[in-house]
Amino acid sequence: MERALDSRLPSAAQAPAHLHAAMRYATLDGGKRVRASLVYATGEAVGAPDGALDAPACAIELIHAYSLVHDDLPCMDDDDLRRGKPTCHKAFDQATALLAGDALQSCAFEILANESALSAAQRLRMIAILAQAAGSRGMAGGQAIDLASGGKTLTLPQLEDMHRRKTGALIHASVLLGALARENVAAEKLTALENYSRAIGLAFQITDDILDVEGNAETLGKKPGVDRERGKPTYPLLMGLSEAKARAKTLHAQALESLAPLGDNGAILAELAGFIIERRQ
Ligand code: IPE
Ligand code: IPE
Ligand code: MG
Ligand code: MG
Ligand code: MG
Repeated sequence: MERALDSRLPSAAQAPAHLHAAMRYATLDGGKRVRASLVYATGEAVGAPDGALDAPACAIELIHAYSLVHDDLPCMDDDDLRRGKPTCHKAFDQATALLAGDALQSCAFEILANESALSAAQRLRMIAILAQAAGSRGMAGGQAIDLASGGKTLTLPQLEDMHRRKTGALIHASVLLGALARENVAAEKLTALENYSRAIGLAFQITDDILDVEGNAETLGKKPGVDRERGKPTYPLLMGLSEAKARAKTLHAQALESLAPLGDNGAILAELAGFIIERRQ
């Protein structure tokens, strides 16, 4: 994954060097690569050719990296550390971080558009899915709801809707892109993968919120707990820590159940669901 990203990002020696250095800084040397892993594991589950998975995996990780650069900006979560190192705007400056995010997003679509291992129809479909997941009805929209909810109480369905957009949408897209790397996947398998990704997408953000509260945030250099999120509603805040953990467990079980139609081919996806829910960072 690191090599695939490294070779697709513009070199820091190329002008504008400062911007390219910031893009590389925000993307390489860190990150669990959960979304990329989902692309590869789904591709493997449906029998997609290996060579067809690098481009979608890179595209998703670049959109994700861009979302994190912007999420950390002072006008959003105002965080100083990310992936154990200074956030992009701290290591560079705010304007460069803003532009690095913009350019990472464009780079993701450029990579998909130019990938010769995929048919034109596959590229178009992947671009459409990723655009929707990243846009105002997906991640960016979820972030907008997140920002607007500071100091407010959301109902559980509202909170869930926010989570499904800001985090779930990209997770869902990761699975879909992996599946689309193979032509003509059976409808039953696609439905199974949809159900799986919806369950883990929501569980991912619930777990992230739990980790933020449980102080692991400190090892990541985050301002811990509610203060960091400026009083924003989270699962642990709304339903309590143990209920939030129970909800994540239920979603884990749902995810595993959804994989049944894939048989043994779903084994890595099942492991990934476990990792997402049990991760400590
Ligand atoms: C963090 O995502 C932001 C959320 C969407 C909750 P990850 O926990 O996947 O971040 P990295 O990529 O591993 O740093
Ligand atoms: C981030 O959610 C979601 C996106 C970047 C889309 P958070 O703000 O909770 O993520 P962390 O905790 O900063 O990684
Ligand atoms: Mg945020
Ligand atoms: Mg944040
Ligand atoms: Mg968080």
